[in-house]
Amino acid sequence: MHPFAAPSPASRFRRLRRTPALRALAEETSLSVNDLIWPVFVRDGSGVRDPIASMPGVNRLSIDLVVQAAEQAANLGIPALCLFPYTDPALKTAGCEEAWNPNNLANKAIRAIKAAVPDIAVMTDVALDPYNANGHDGLVRDGIILNDESVEALVRMALVQAEAGADILGPSDMMDGRIGAMRQALEAAGHKDVAILSYAAKYASAFYGPFRDAVGASGALKGDKKTYQMNPANSDEALRLVARDLEEGADMVMIKPGMPYLDICRRVKDAFGAPTYAYQVSGEYAMIKAAAERGWIDGERVMMESLMAFRRAGCDGVLTYFAPEVARVLQRNR
Ligand code: PBG
Repeated sequence: MHPFAAPSPASRFRRLRRTPALRALAEETSLSVNDLIWPVFVRDGSGVRDPIASMPGVNRLSIDLVVQAAEQAANLGIPALCLFPYTDPALKTAGCEEAWNPNNLANKAIRAIKAAVPDIAVMTDVALDPYNANGHDGLVRDGIILNDESVEALVRMALVQAEAGADILGPSDMMDGRIGAMRQALEAAGHKDVAILSYAAKYASAFYGPFRDAVGASGALKGDKKTYQMNPANSDEALRLVARDLEEGADMVMIKPGMPYLDICRRVKDAFGAPTYAYQVSGEYAMIKAAAERGWIDGERVMMESLMAFRRAGCDGVLTYFAPEVARVLQRNR
């Protein structure tokens, strides 16, 4: 595009900003409830709503309450939920066997949601960290995060989630080759229509802190994730990762975190035109909530502006803990 602007007074940009109607007509991008994926934390028990201190307004929910949340989300028009389990520390092992237990918390939640609210899409997390005694996304031997052994474990985990009825698998582990391995295994097992939303460009970020509290991984994690998650200094590498994951069979791709990486979102959308999502992660949510609680910013307006920024940067949708709040604001402003 060659932006054209006549000199003033032929062009006065303020003409189209004068009234709400003119501003609406000139609006380039839009935000709708269809653009939201709501990440939800699941825990055991029943009737349990367990607040997460570093994520005001976000709770770990027992499965019965997750089903209620799914009903609320469906009523608001939110198209998808993404489930993250808070696993009992007693079930965490170095072999991560609980990850492919068909009756683990995540798989039970998938079945319960699909039985009660069949129309909402259920997305999963495919990574070993909620089940790993050392908090890593892959299997660890002698301090090394093993790639190919981890991929085998992740494939097992993915198949069990597909079997439980997941609509979208979300590999967040950043091992090499996992998308192709999962896609082949899904085809072979007859799960031809299960979608994969690859966390293709996932950075080794300090913005994940509150999430690790939420899933109980903070204490467990030994070291950092820099040998598998991306260096925040890199951008071309993100394009190569997205290309690779699309070739291996990803249907959708994600950039994570969100707001500090909008340049990556734009590059990925322009280069591939594939369904592109960003994850507005826990630390981004916590910063907005914390400043709003102190009265330093208008939380609702900052929330809406942040979501519009993702759309403007080329994202088709956003995983955000704000999803139900955003949906309510959109409903009110209709
Ligand atoms: C781990 C995983 C993480 C998040 C989603 N999946 C954290 C990590 O990589 O350590 C972060 C989400 C958030 O911060 O909101 N598989």
